[in-house]
Amino acid sequence: MARVKQKMFLFLCLLVILYIFLCHFYRPLLDDKFLELNKCPACYGKKLCKHLFNTEVVLNEHKLNIISVFNVRNVFLGNIANEKVVFKKLAHNWELQRFDSLLGAATLRIVCPLGDCLPQHHAPGDGLREVLKFYDWNVSSLVQNEPELFEFSDAVKCPSVRTIEFLFKSFQEHEATSGSDELLENFVTQLSINPEPLIMMAFRAKEPVFAEVLGACGRLVAYAHAGVPLTDVLDRPWLERVRYALQLLQITQALSTGPMALYLCDPRPENFAVDDRGKVWIVDAENIILVDSKANGMAQDEHENDGTGCLDCFSFSQEDLCSHATTDHNYFAICKSLLSSTPFERSIPGGLLRDAPTWLTEDFPSVFLLIEICSYPAYSPYRKLSGNILTFDTKSGARVPSWGVNTPAKMEECEGNVSSQGQKECGSHNVSLGSPNFATMGRRKAVEYLISIFNKLLNMKLPGKF
Ligand SMILES: Nc1ncnc2c1ncn2[C@@H]1O[C@H](COP(=O)(O)OP(=O)(O)O)[C@@H](O)[C@H]1O
Ligand SMILES: [Mg+2]
Repeated sequence: MARVKQKMFLFLCLLVILYIFLCHFYRPLLDDKFLELNKCPACYGKKLCKHLFNTEVVLNEHKLNIISVFNVRNVFLGNIANEKVVFKKLAHNWELQRFDSLLGAATLRIVCPLGDCLPQHHAPGDGLREVLKFYDWNVSSLVQNEPELFEFSDAVKCPSVRTIEFLFKSFQEHEATSGSDELLENFVTQLSINPEPLIMMAFRAKEPVFAEVLGACGRLVAYAHAGVPLTDVLDRPWLERVRYALQLLQITQALSTGPMALYLCDPRPENFAVDDRGKVWIVDAENIILVDSKANGMAQDEHENDGTGCLDCFSFSQEDLCSHATTDHNYFAICKSLLSSTPFERSIPGGLLRDAPTWLTEDFPSVFLLIEICSYPAYSPYRKLSGNILTFDTKSGARVPSWGVNTPAKMEECEGNVSSQGQKECGSHNVSLGSPNFATMGRRKAVEYLISIFNKLLNMKLPGKF
């Protein structure tokens, strides 16, 4: 019996390995079926089609070949002409099917409100047109009255007419080619299935931190390739990684300010890329909550994400984000997910700034303290002040910041009385921070200090130090 079980187990393992192997080498054909062109205008657009098909016809097939598969979520790396691009269907196949069947159900409810009609089938494109007509082509009204269609769309989690208008305006500018009805249908399809391209287009002009959207053909969107994921740069020289950290903090500030705030809800390192010139990009904007910070009734006091929705993992309250004009949520997201010495993600062990050079940890101990201040809320049970020494400690106390420099002895020596007198000079490259009160400092302030220290570090001539 045991032998049979063993054989069964081996057989299952073989099947799993074969499945993974096949997935890895799976190359979809860029045909109408894969692009789901028959679903249009319940698709993302058609602007890219001409380009895709022309490229395929004019150039040989190597010029437009899908060369590798990132993961099972329909994300493919490819080339158009000689440019590296990323193709995304923006959802799993089951999510696309779910959209079609929800749309079908909504159409039926609208064209046959009493449910006494003969069974009839509406193609998604026709269905979407009926549904939009019913709501007078008013997207806000559609979002409000057909919530199931937008259940997975973080962009409309905080209801706001202004947010939808804002996204549509930039989509219109970007996709100037199609007629206005079709444009609205493409917009609604993206908004429902995955608003990523809409967000990337809308904010790219203001903040060039999102990968460039090249266009859509059916249910496929092409993006400019923005580089390698953050997880692939952990072994680069430390100062190089400081450049990335600085950009991440600047992104944090930029997304958190202005009339439309963007809150990162999936700040995993894989969702950020670094290009050949060392520029950091956001490449996954699916899980971003948009907040119209000027909306009526917003609480004006800053919301502090206390991060205690779950221990040692990323959490937030959607209600709090939606109801406050400002929040330190993004600061928490970036600092604790990417920069802290004990980041949430196992894929970035030790954080982006791990393995700092010894002289740095001696001369700039505040860098690492400030990163942890940004990672934990001011009144976190993990932020501990004993005497005048500030330390961080998660759960059991086993995971204190691992650079060694934040030990009480070092802090005392280099930073002086941290609770009230600010910092003493410590080492020849130290940056004076004035008199910061580390014990009660908020995340925003910590990031301001970090940015000024990182800028100083990057401007220093330090031969042989890195
Ligand atoms: N524009 C891009 N440039 C470079 N890499 C990208 C780009 N878009 C996505 N990727 C890579 O593909 C991976 C999967 O894409 P993503 O949109 O994050 O899909 P998922 O929704 O499955 O997380 C990302 O983690 C990133 O490494
Ligand atoms: Mg992702």
